[in-house]
Amino acid sequence: MVTESTDRIVLEPPAPSAAVQARSLYVETYGCQMNKADSELIVGLLTREGYRVTDRVDRADVILVNTCAIRENAEQRVLGRMSELNRFKTANPDLILGLCGCMSQHLGDRIIEQAPYIDLVAGPDNYRRLPTMLRALDAESEPALSLTWDRAEHYLDIDPVREAGVNGWVTIMRGCDKMCAFCIVPFVRGRERSTPHGEVIRQIERLAAEGYREVTMLGQTVNKYRDGEVDFADLLSRAAEIDGIARIRFTSPHPAHFPERLIEVMAASPKVCPHTHLPLQSGASTTLSRMRRDYTPETFLEVVRMLREHIPRIALTTDVIVGFCGETEEEYEATCEMMRTVQFDSAFMFKYSPRPGTASHKRLPDDVPEAVKAERLTAIIDMQKSISDLRNRAYRGQIVHVLVEGQSKRDADKLFGKTDAFKTAVFPRRPGIESNMIVPVRVNGSTPFTLFGDIETPA
Ligand code: SAH
Ligand code: F3S
Repeated sequence: MVTESTDRIVLEPPAPSAAVQARSLYVETYGCQMNKADSELIVGLLTREGYRVTDRVDRADVILVNTCAIRENAEQRVLGRMSELNRFKTANPDLILGLCGCMSQHLGDRIIEQAPYIDLVAGPDNYRRLPTMLRALDAESEPALSLTWDRAEHYLDIDPVREAGVNGWVTIMRGCDKMCAFCIVPFVRGRERSTPHGEVIRQIERLAAEGYREVTMLGQTVNKYRDGEVDFADLLSRAAEIDGIARIRFTSPHPAHFPERLIEVMAASPKVCPHTHLPLQSGASTTLSRMRRDYTPETFLEVVRMLREHIPRIALTTDVIVGFCGETEEEYEATCEMMRTVQFDSAFMFKYSPRPGTASHKRLPDDVPEAVKAERLTAIIDMQKSISDLRNRAYRGQIVHVLVEGQSKRDADKLFGKTDAFKTAVFPRRPGIESNMIVPVRVNGSTPFTLFGDIETPA
């Protein structure tokens, strides 16, 4: 097996050959927006090396699966998929099957023991080495692994090749220093670092030049951004000056890093969308403290209050974990109560999944029975569904502005897109209305997940 334990790659690659130049690449992505952005980076990097992207997995010479390690079921799903993809090797014995992203970093060379047909394993700081690793696999039959951390890696000179769509992701921070007890991210994505602000602005300008009207800045604690004197509020102001960009989003901010000045900047710029994803995790101070989240229910509510005071029509979404180690019925009820108090527009809700290597896995027993976790999850999802329903009903009769993404998946006569408050809206097609336009839609119906309406034409 070819492994490396230092920053320097130890493979001796043959020179690029004509065969390499003609290779086709298929990339499949699991997990969060950060992974989607990383896949675009991988495609940018490999197309620069002459690889050709294909959307036909059965025609690919190289298949890379970019993975998520956040919960155990995410990993199980990918392992199942890898074994399915391995079948393509029967028709194409030269096929290279690679695993990238968080799961690679988490499982390391154990992945090869579990799935010996995997040829390449690269962690999130190692994508720059992919061309070399792929070339080495021409000469070597042993798997190539690259799993180092590199605090200096911002992928500065690589321009992502973006998937078709109306939103462009820009990674402004990599890694995380927060060390929440349940979370694998700091272990698989390494230390927190902010991309130099000049590069962030260059990337957003490039998006604007390519015709994108919406940008989403990405980071695990995006509001902790700092490059010298430039903090996140400054970066938002600078991004808002870029012509052509109509909408700026960011995800995910951390509730402990939300100064009022940032909220003032958000409120002052019409380009910054009135939506914030503010991960709550739990509404009980005791659970939050076991989770090592450095805020309390009270300080969380204070951020919500400030956001709503400065941006009254802001939509708030969140993440919640139920069944964390030692979670009592009262603690769970405190989370439900908090959700009733805040009235989030929507929420991602999860059962706690112990991740090897994290503080909670090492130090706290996973003692909430699976049946109780499942019961709590179902109940909180049901509760949130009725809150989301009420929040969406409040839009009926109002005009929302929708960035058109394309044809509705359920009805070819309809279009869909997102409102500035991040609601999906569906409405009948009209001549001349195309993707990437922002159109006014009068809402006439809703579900907990979608707004329905008609394009409003000037009287
Ligand atoms: N920094 C990001 C978190 C990324 S992980 C943020 O603050 O949004 C996305 C979500 O997955 C977390 O907010 C959390 O709700 C959930 N999550 C993370 N680790 C988990 C675990 N071990 N079990 C269950 N859910 C988890
Ligand atoms: Fe994870 Fe907490 Fe960072 S949830 S990504 S350790 S802010």
